Amino acid sequence: MPRQLIAGNWKMNGLSVPGARLAGAIREAVSAAPPPCDLLICPPFTLVGTLAHVMLGSGVAVGAQDCHAKVAGPHTGDVSAAMLKDAGATAVILGHSERRTDHGETDAEVRAKAAAALAAGLVPIVCVGETWPEREAGRQEAVVAAQLAGSLPDGFAGTGVVAYEPVWAIGTGRTPTEADIAAMHAMIRRVLGERFGAAGGRVLILYGGSVKPANAAAILALPEVGGALVGGASLVAEDFLAIAAAAQV
Ligand code: PGA
Repeated sequence: MPRQLIAGNWKMNGLSVPGARLAGAIREAVSAAPPPCDLLICPPFTLVGTLAHVMLGSGVAVGAQDCHAKVAGPHTGDVSAAMLKDAGATAVILGHSERRTDHGETDAEVRAKAAAALAAGLVPIVCVGETWPEREAGRQEAVVAAQLAGSLPDGFAGTGVVAYEPVWAIGTGRTPTEADIAAMHAMIRRVLGERFGAAGGRVLILYGGSVKPANAAAILALPEVGGALVGGASLVAEDFLAIAAAAQV
């Protein structure tokens, strides 16, 4: 199995000075004690280029939080996957629930963006996850299976990463039970296998939603959990590094 991936989603946080300070602290700690996993930080667009430079040679990768589906053209305010690659990014988070909510992103749009990321040589990290009413209704597996079917482009396996993030667990301090996480990850693995064959068996499936140092070890030890997508805790170097240190080898 590949190493686990701990990815930090900074969301809309990070001005240049504190952002560089946070990245520098991570860089320093990682060079003193390399973590047992791959590390990725995803700052806002404005810091991607700067932090890619800060992290050069550190082993910590830098990614973004969205991209446009087109390579270039009349799309004011948007950023293409090729531009992210050019700025030094190696990955991009796509279809995060906050984008699906704030910007009405559909599965079809996420799929087009993921295809664009693959074409540009970026790792697409495609987020899926149910809302609380959907879980209460027992529809979580159907919802996530439909999101996977609609959001993953052909050729996704081999490069792409899936992040299971229950919407109700994001930024709330609530997490599913370990059994619920394991059940969902097993379902996602089955769906990936059916769609992509052997390559689907090797896709990393991250868990995201209120991952903290206190719960990281238990979550990262669950079967089919290939790492974590970390929001709030990725903004505190010690917390992000403690989660990384809890990765399974
Ligand atoms: P959280 O966010 O860790 O703050 O819950 C996770 C995410 O939205 O990726």
